[in-house]
Amino acid sequence: MGNGIAHVMALAGYEVLLTDISQDALDRGIETITGNMDRQVSRGKVSAEDRDAAMARISTTLTLADLGATDLVIEAATEKEALKAAIFEDLVPHLAPHTILTSNTSSISITRLASRTDRPEKFMGFHFMNPVPVMQLVELIRGIATDKETFQACHEVVEKLGKTAASAEDFPAFIVNRILMPMINEAVYTLYEGVGNVTSIDTSMKLGTNHPMGPLELADFIGLDTCLAIMNVLHDGLADTKYRPCPLLTKYVEAGWLGRKSGRGFYDYR
Ligand code: CAA
Repeated sequence: MGNGIAHVMALAGYEVLLTDISQDALDRGIETITGNMDRQVSRGKVSAEDRDAAMARISTTLTLADLGATDLVIEAATEKEALKAAIFEDLVPHLAPHTILTSNTSSISITRLASRTDRPEKFMGFHFMNPVPVMQLVELIRGIATDKETFQACHEVVEKLGKTAASAEDFPAFIVNRILMPMINEAVYTLYEGVGNVTSIDTSMKLGTNHPMGPLELADFIGLDTCLAIMNVLHDGLADTKYRPCPLLTKYVEAGWLGRKSGRGFYDYR
């Protein structure tokens, strides 16, 4: 998600400073952005000049303190609350007073993350969809303390990206994942109970409801660990058994079968 966000921000004219936990991760990010932009050029969606200018706007750093002077921070670390909170706590001492902090979290409480910073009024959710360069939506989530100016500034960024914002209140998993993840989880139950196999479930939903991907293929695309993490946020946060993660989903994650990124999920990518 981080490389996709850097990609669209740079194409829209923003200077981007990308950070990650290792040089290797940063190099992979730049490689992915280059590949995706080259594909956009070859399909005539982006000119070679715009690609070159966008790539020149992206720089990288391994030092979190370098982000201190930026106007907007978009955190896109793994979907683990403790990790995200630790990143914000490390960042806060270096921040300029005007910097807006946002998280690309797909489910975690914005209000709780904001409370770990010195500026809950300048903190909100900025949730892109995967693949970021293709998907039109950005969910904007206000925490309990987010002020109007911060929301307006983020809304303007979404418009400059040429994307569409939908605003959501700060409840577990917001709108998209509140609806999408129970559907994916139900598809895993359907497999678990033997109602269908992987092919029949995905074919049914693709051709039966005109979804671009079947739910199991989409789960592999999102990452089964991310799907499980979001189901756990729904289950814990809403305290309703209807959000119980399917045991088969848990088992796959425990096996390290995380979908496309690990080479195996409901499908085999090796
Ligand atoms: N960067 C840039 N462009 C990309 C890209 C990327 N990473 N991935 C795909 N594309 C472009 C392709 O170049 C192609 O462009 P053209 O139209 O110019 O040819 C276009 O997207 C379609 O791609 P493909 O032809 O390769 O494949 P496709 O037609 O099967 O579409 C897909 C692929 C866009 C991923 C489509 O299957 C789809 O929309 N799937 C559903 C995605 C979805 O639901 N995403 C949301 C997930 S939920 C989420 O993100 C929230 C969360 O918190 C978990």
